[in-house]
Amino acid sequence: MSEPSPPVLISESAIDARVRELAREISDDYSNGDGIVLIGVLKGAFIFLADLSRRLTIPRTIEFIAVSSYEDSDVSSGAVRLVMDVRGNIEGRDVLIVEDIVDTGHTLSYLIGMLESHGPASIRTCALLHKAERAEVEVNIDYLGFGIGDEWVVGYGLDFVEKDRTLPYIGVIDPND
Ligand code: PRP
Repeated sequence: MSEPSPPVLISESAIDARVRELAREISDDYSNGDGIVLIGVLKGAFIFLADLSRRLTIPRTIEFIAVSSYEDSDVSSGAVRLVMDVRGNIEGRDVLIVEDIVDTGHTLSYLIGMLESHGPASIRTCALLHKAERAEVEVNIDYLGFGIGDEWVVGYGLDFVEKDRTLPYIGVIDPND
């Protein structure tokens, strides 16, 4: 028997409408440049990046980056490790980091610092979701889809132990169930 679907927090149509708005805003802001590099943070950002990138009306190229959190007790909590760097040269380019969710902020904060060392012309950030009350480090989100509470969310790229990533909406689960 299949399990019931998680209750809806943000519907497919609400996501679609917000992604279109974000794409318009980003396209306007960069309309005088020579295009941007979108850097998707694997794995969670892959669906958001796919939809957002197709809605943009400015020249864009796509890169991916992968990180992993240190779970080692020897290492201070919040430390982030680079698993896969960008392949293309981003020196002198306008970069937009695309995240599915900003939680404590450690991942995005690390990525901004790391990507700065590649010498881009600028770095901005775009996240579909932000859990403000979980923030441990301050990090600026230039383009934000939705602020959410401290809930465990799945779908539209986000998972719970690799489950529910491909739900078409953002749902809420109780990880203790
Ligand atoms: C999630 C999300 C961000 C990060 C945010 O990734 O995609 O990259 O956590 O958390 P933070 O603000 O506390 O650093 P996750 O580790 O779940 O990996 P995944 O994207 O591969 O599922």
